[in-house]
Amino acid sequence: MIEELQQNVHAQPPLVTLKNVQKVFQSGGKDFVAVKDVTLTIEAGDLLSIVGPSGCGKTTVLKILAGLYDASGGSVQIGPEGAGSVAGHDVGMVFQQPLLLKWRSIIDNVLLPADILGLPRKEVRERAHDLLAMVGLKDAADKYPYQLSGGMQQRAAIARALIHDPKLVLMDEPFGALDAITREKMNLELLRIREQSNKTFIVVTHGIQEAVFLGSHCAVLSAGPARMADYFAIDIDYPRPLSVKTSPKFGAYVERIYDKLDMSA
Ligand SMILES: Nc1ncnc2c1ncn2[C@@H]1O[C@H](COP(=O)(O)OP(=O)(O)OP(=O)(O)O)[C@@H](O)[C@H]1O
Ligand SMILES: [Mg+2]
Repeated sequence: MIEELQQNVHAQPPLVTLKNVQKVFQSGGKDFVAVKDVTLTIEAGDLLSIVGPSGCGKTTVLKILAGLYDASGGSVQIGPEGAGSVAGHDVGMVFQQPLLLKWRSIIDNVLLPADILGLPRKEVRERAHDLLAMVGLKDAADKYPYQLSGGMQQRAAIARALIHDPKLVLMDEPFGALDAITREKMNLELLRIREQSNKTFIVVTHGIQEAVFLGSHCAVLSAGPARMADYFAIDIDYPRPLSVKTSPKFGAYVERIYDKLDMSA
């Protein structure tokens, strides 16, 4: 059923394919099923929002995509079928907290993945400055994390996730720690960055409105262990001003997510 929904909304070959992905953790000598059955396809240029109750397995799914965990069952494919699977350099990750190193300047924080991957510093330095300008931090390159607000730090973390030019950017509750106004601004920022960077994003969020506002597509996961409860394309044109949130179409998508989430769990 969900697979049928996905076939209907995708015309091109997918960039990411998850088929019946499962994750079982060993916990106190017992098996614990964290992800039961997730099947997803994501096309290049999509922004997929993932919503689901706390503890249902969203971070686990992102970590599988990032190559930090192996799936216990099913398959994960990044790139066209047969072109190999997850390669670290194809994926950038933004966590709930900015996780900047406090002893490194902002530019050096942005350069960290490039240093780890051994990319030539001279070339990536220029790119780091361009990315900082793109996220609105042109003048913060030589500052240190403590000199930046939470929203600015999170924007630096987004620049860091893009430094090695990954195809796919994974964001785990990227704005969860921010106040409501900064969060709305960051939503607009993310859509602007997406437009400029032309990348594929997967954004996990607890915010149902945020999921609809950001996403070209939305996956709803059931209460843990994660299964696909719904998947649909969000047919609202970009660029999206904040005022789209008051449109009936927007409200209908929000309602659809509420209906699919098991709010009693
Ligand atoms: N490394 C691990 N070992 C054992 N159990 C784990 C591990 N990581 C996660 N879990 C369990 O798997 C389930 C899913 O965790 P996960 O962090 O993916 O949930 P989530 O949907 O991201 O939750 P939240 O919305 O609160 O961030 C939880 O019950 C969690 O306790
Ligand atoms: Mg999580």
